Amino acid sequence: MTDAYDPQALSRKAYDHLWMHFTRMSSYEKGDVPTIVRGEGAYIWDANGRRYLDGLAGLFVVQAGHGRVELAEAAYKQAAELAYFPIWSYAHPKAVELANRLAALAPGDLGRVFFTSGGGEAVESAWKLAKQYFKLTGKPAKHKVITRSIAYHGTTHGALSLTGLPGLKAPYEPLVPSTFRVPNTNFYRAPEHGDDLEAFGVWAADRIAEAIEFEGPETVAAVFLEPVQNAGGCFPPPPRYFQRVREICDEHDVLFVSDEVICAFGRLGGYFGSAVYGYQPDIITCAKGMTSGYAPLGAMIASDRLFEPFATGTASFAHGYTWGGHPVAAAVALANLDIFEREALNEHVTENSPRFRETLEKLLDLPIVGDVRGDGYFFGIELVKDKSSRETFDDDESERLLRGFLSKALFDAGLYCRADDRGDPVIQLSPPLVCDQSHFDEIEQILRAVLTEAWSRI
Ligand SMILES: Cc1ncc(COP(=O)(O)O)c(C=O)c1O
Repeated sequence: MTDAYDPQALSRKAYDHLWMHFTRMSSYEKGDVPTIVRGEGAYIWDANGRRYLDGLAGLFVVQAGHGRVELAEAAYKQAAELAYFPIWSYAHPKAVELANRLAALAPGDLGRVFFTSGGGEAVESAWKLAKQYFKLTGKPAKHKVITRSIAYHGTTHGALSLTGLPGLKAPYEPLVPSTFRVPNTNFYRAPEHGDDLEAFGVWAADRIAEAIEFEGPETVAAVFLEPVQNAGGCFPPPPRYFQRVREICDEHDVLFVSDEVICAFGRLGGYFGSAVYGYQPDIITCAKGMTSGYAPLGAMIASDRLFEPFATGTASFAHGYTWGGHPVAAAVALANLDIFEREALNEHVTENSPRFRETLEKLLDLPIVGDVRGDGYFFGIELVKDKSSRETFDDDESERLLRGFLSKALFDAGLYCRADDRGDPVIQLSPPLVCDQSHFDEIEQILRAVLTEAWSRI
């Protein structure tokens, strides 16, 4: 199958005309553009026929694994029957069915599903809904949003404004005003209560209360938080953190948006991360794993309370996307959820996550590995220059280590994953949910060899 491709020609054409996302294009001036042509289960193959373990499920997406013919067939069947119709004042059966299924799976009273084509659009939709909801219910000044430091929420102007990565935002300033940052839950680098996880969690949650009070509760519409924050390298919530956030939001009538673009659909061992951690958001934003990547789709799932002002009278949510709830994507999502049920993927993750963690924790014997953290099938490995002081790498070292060596070396060694320095340098892992101990061992062995080599180069 891979013989059909000419790797050199593909690479050259990619370099000439394909504008790769978040990519320093000059890095391919001399080297080949890695071109992936096929996938099966937890593995992908490049145009040269080389196999790699997909340690990132594409981009936190391919939950059910690659090569699922049944998902391709669901897409084919739907495209043949009705390839496209908008959900602007009309419905089609697959969007109806999927909305009902998601409403049943989502926690509590999250019963209203607004489809988008991806995660950033879901985030935009949630912020716009929060603003309009308060305008319709007599609190028109509520429009500001609080998010966490280093958190990534997308690239459109609104979603980027909510993102807590100044370097990513700088080229596009001025962005949408009215967003504010609070500390994340990076316990490894806790500025306070570094010896008491629960106290740290309460401290971090209380910074949200403080930000709301500083800005004036009558001006704050929402807080956007991921169940496990991805950027920075997997920050799980301390015990009681989300429960305290819920209390704070209730006290100030601020909407709690759970941005589950990564953390829904099995990544943490449940359909929704909020349900896994036992908290009730007002809105969930989700995308990626909903279709396991066999078609693009996102959603904002809002509580019945937020829908109320739109249920009667003349008000409407004047917002939408051509591709939102696309019939083919909705059909694929339904077939994907069938696979989740049939193969008990959530249970598989819950059962195997401790083994994944234990296997990765073996790497803590390496001098460069400072911390292993995460949950479900979602882990970050923080790299440090000095383990005892937790000193991190400076910008030059980070550049040499991550961009200059690690990403490529891991790929060359057969592991596709991500070396990220948007916060402190981390390796991010988020493999397909079908992975088992043999895959964990393979990941550990490749990381061990490459990180040992990296250490010798510092
Ligand atoms: C938490 C979170 N929110 C939003 C987004 C944006 O999603 P998309 O790239 O589908 O627009 C992402 C993407 O990774 C994300 O991780």
